[in-house]
Amino acid sequence: MPAYLLDVDTGIDDALALAYLAALPDTEFVAVTATPGNVDADQVARNTLALLELCGRPGVQVAVGARKPLSIPLITTPETHGPQGIGYAVLPEPSGQPSRQNAVDLWIEHARARPGELTALITAPLTNFALALRQEPALPDLLAKVVIMGGAFYHQGNTTPTAEWNTHVDPHAAKEVYAAYRGRSLEKLPIVCSLDTTERMEMHPAHVKALARAAGAAVPELVLPEDPEGRRSTSDNTLIRHLSDALRFYFEFHRLYDQGYLAHVHDFFAAGVALEYAARPATVDVETESALLMGTTVADFRGLWGAPPNARIVSANNPEQAFGELVSAVGRLARKTG
Ligand code: BDR
Ligand code: CA
Repeated sequence: MPAYLLDVDTGIDDALALAYLAALPDTEFVAVTATPGNVDADQVARNTLALLELCGRPGVQVAVGARKPLSIPLITTPETHGPQGIGYAVLPEPSGQPSRQNAVDLWIEHARARPGELTALITAPLTNFALALRQEPALPDLLAKVVIMGGAFYHQGNTTPTAEWNTHVDPHAAKEVYAAYRGRSLEKLPIVCSLDTTERMEMHPAHVKALARAAGAAVPELVLPEDPEGRRSTSDNTLIRHLSDALRFYFEFHRLYDQGYLAHVHDFFAAGVALEYAARPATVDVETESALLMGTTVADFRGLWGAPPNARIVSANNPEQAFGELVSAVGRLARKTG
């Protein structure tokens, strides 16, 4: 049974990643921690608790750690993910409360308690993870696998022309994390899902329709480009209604930036990668000095820096297969939760 430590900044695509993992019958959520990014850390925790409850996973430990990036002020992105991070969806108030423990302590405690057992999935800026590595330098050995959504290598950035959002929010943390992996053995290196592959994960209105059908929703779930912006779902299925409202916002955001009426669901892909996919070793570094290139990730695949690899970068994916799995797994879950 895969056991996960997650760090998220929920976030529309983080929400999809959580729903997907929750839908897999044998997933154990050991703890889910909140990093500020798409929204502030308290909102991330609220969104995450509410979503896990909607997905039939109440009682998962959700904790806040850092409340701002390591060295620069926090910038959130309501224009990308909506005022509360879930697009047009208004999630119910969660009945659970965030843990009183600090996210960073929690990661270390769980990793030490179950050495070699836990898969770490980080779909947020690397702030909490960098702090955890400072506090427990043996963390890479204690974790079975680490998957990170972040970076853009041979691909345009989505925040500046060269920088990806998670890395741009806290470039200093990202630099520290990659530095901490220098000299580690290949099988311990983080698996990195950058925009190069995650932007191939184009979710379309047809996927939302298929999801609602798989959930047994009474009426077809139509999210159409010609609809007035902000139209809310009336689905009789609660999870479908919230996901549809979230995704409609993401479709409109991508259209605004001339990418079409679709959504790049980065974090969902990273969640799938935690389960499968192979990757290419590279030495990764992050720019933290230049105003022009702040948060830019650079990958040396050829050993030109003379430094050993410190990351494994995913170089291929299969969107059709991944969306097929999403529709059947989350559809099944939504049918159950109603
Ligand atoms: C990443 O940035 C966030 O806005 C998304 O949730 C994703 O983790 C993509 O660049
Ligand atoms: Ca995210």
